[in-house]
Amino acid sequence: MPIRLLPPTLVNRIAAGEVIERPASAVKELVENAIDAGATRIDVTLRDGGRSLITVVDDGSGMSAAELELAVERHATSKLPDDDLTHIATLGFRGEALPSIAAVGRLTIQSRRAGSDAAWSLAVEGGGKGTVQPAALGQGTRVELRDLFYATPARLKFLKASRTELDHAADVVNRLAMANPEIAFALFDDARPVLRYSAAAGDLLNNAAAARLARLAQVMGREFADNALAIDVVREEVRLTGHIGLPTLNRATAAQQYLFVNGRPVRDRLLQGAVRGAYQDFLARDRHPLVALFLELPAEAVDVNVHPTKAEVRFRDPGLVRGLIVGAARHALAAAGHRAATTVAANTLASFRPQAAVPSSPWRPTASLPRGFAEAAAAAYAPLDADAAGLPGFAAPQARAESTEAAAAAAFPLGAARAQLHETYIVAQTADGIVIVDQHAAHERLVYERMKHALAATGIERQSLLIPEVVELEAPAVERLLARREELAELGLVLEAFGPGAVVVREVPALLGPADAQGLVRDLADELAEFGQALGLKERLEEICGTMACHGSVRAGRRLTPAEMDALLREMEATPHSGQCNHGRPTYVELKLADIERLFGRR
Ligand SMILES: Nc1ncnc2c1ncn2[C@@H]1O[C@H](COP(=O)(O)OP(=O)(O)O)[C@@H](O)[C@H]1O
Ligand SMILES: [Mg+2]
Repeated sequence: MPIRLLPPTLVNRIAAGEVIERPASAVKELVENAIDAGATRIDVTLRDGGRSLITVVDDGSGMSAAELELAVERHATSKLPDDDLTHIATLGFRGEALPSIAAVGRLTIQSRRAGSDAAWSLAVEGGGKGTVQPAALGQGTRVELRDLFYATPARLKFLKASRTELDHAADVVNRLAMANPEIAFALFDDARPVLRYSAAAGDLLNNAAAARLARLAQVMGREFADNALAIDVVREEVRLTGHIGLPTLNRATAAQQYLFVNGRPVRDRLLQGAVRGAYQDFLARDRHPLVALFLELPAEAVDVNVHPTKAEVRFRDPGLVRGLIVGAARHALAAAGHRAATTVAANTLASFRPQAAVPSSPWRPTASLPRGFAEAAAAAYAPLDADAAGLPGFAAPQARAESTEAAAAAAFPLGAARAQLHETYIVAQTADGIVIVDQHAAHERLVYERMKHALAATGIERQSLLIPEVVELEAPAVERLLARREELAELGLVLEAFGPGAVVVREVPALLGPADAQGLVRDLADELAEFGQALGLKERLEEICGTMACHGSVRAGRRLTPAEMDALLREMEATPHSGQCNHGRPTYVELKLADIERLFGRR
């Protein structure tokens, strides 16, 4: 076969294959163009999920007839005035979007340049460019794309339901809206408004951080804004700003993680990994935090020209960027102390009154709360059932006498312990409410933080067993444990071989107290099987500690003395991250008296 240059229509269609994957990709390119054109409001409309029609209308700089004519040509751009790919300050720069879009749909652009009183229109269809015609339009640009993928039936077949395509487009608009709070955005499904974000106005105009947070609240919800920690750090020439959610506000997917580099929404592995790293101590692997983080760095420190849709970028110094994110997020989370998301108490309250009109209540139940926790708390709080002559829930607990000491303790954030219920929950009285602590979850967290601290400082203290304990296991489990013997010793657990089918435990981490060595070693063996060889146990500290704490002394089901309970509360207050267990579940719930009074209709 002879070698030949492909005709331009085919070139454009091939290029479009990379950039225009679905309606949302066209929306992204067109909205980015509107942003680059300095628009202050951008309206997007989709019909049939964008299949039959996409329009994007902006009030930006617009184009003259000559510019319009050129704009739809391949590699025609106004955004690289000095041929310098290392100083890209706009979202676009390749000059490929419009010709690519024109290659896969019927494109019509109307535009009126700022300061001109004439508007122009140009249609491109099947790669054939029409002639520029006079049109009627206010300042700005209106781009209309009909019958997307009509010429590429294979693509058309891969499109999902209109609803799904609309959701993808909404995600695109949301991300761009978060990075541009000074622009008003609207998205319509035909005539139905799907999103509508007003531009920052009034006081917000002069306060970029407040304007940003207001937009984040519009996109991610009030709940995020109320439970987010502000980030603003600079290292060398890199600045990181934005908000990150408390770990107790978490989701089953990473969909609510929004990352931006120089105003450009990205889905970069490095950044996602940094966020995961920052939260790894606080969340189970299948739970994800909510974040909106914005990196600003000199244009030459980042290459945005490495991915067809620019979703990924390349940093000159990836270590610096990762360190900045992990460090700033950890610092903010540590500074938040034992604070847990407001949603925790809200959800608990909602579950306390199933008859109340929960959907209309200000407390929106969310997926972030572990199901069962609220029920468990409610169960612990319901001693008045029919056969409750002896008040079983309250029969055993050590009720505390009112004393000056207790009154003093009530001044602490987590209050004075008053009772232990079901040998699982500590109930404490605070100055203006009550606190219910899950003693097991709290203890697990404290052990974890103490181990982490000890590891970094002096090493973990070990306690030798008076009578070494022999644990029988299958041969592969023994092998796995012994292979990690040194690492385990560093974490406080000293094991030795004991024939082919057993190990002997000589020492355990002192801070576990009288631990159940048998159960601990068996669980660790299971865990090692799951981890494989790749990771060091220190990286797995969270899981290892969770397992160890599980077999430590303060498990659910152990009765605590008042002094022990108060000690636990004081330690929680003094320990960073103690508001959630290692899996992002809350370790305590606080109910304000005002909320309780509302429950009983006193307010
Ligand atoms: N909404 C718009 N308002 C003003 N000018 C636009 C708009 N959309 C496109 N243009 C012009 O058309 C050119 C080509 O657009 P595009 O193909 O998306 O490439 P790029 O954005 O990479 O430059 C842009 O550089 C810009 O000059
Ligand atoms: Mg563009």
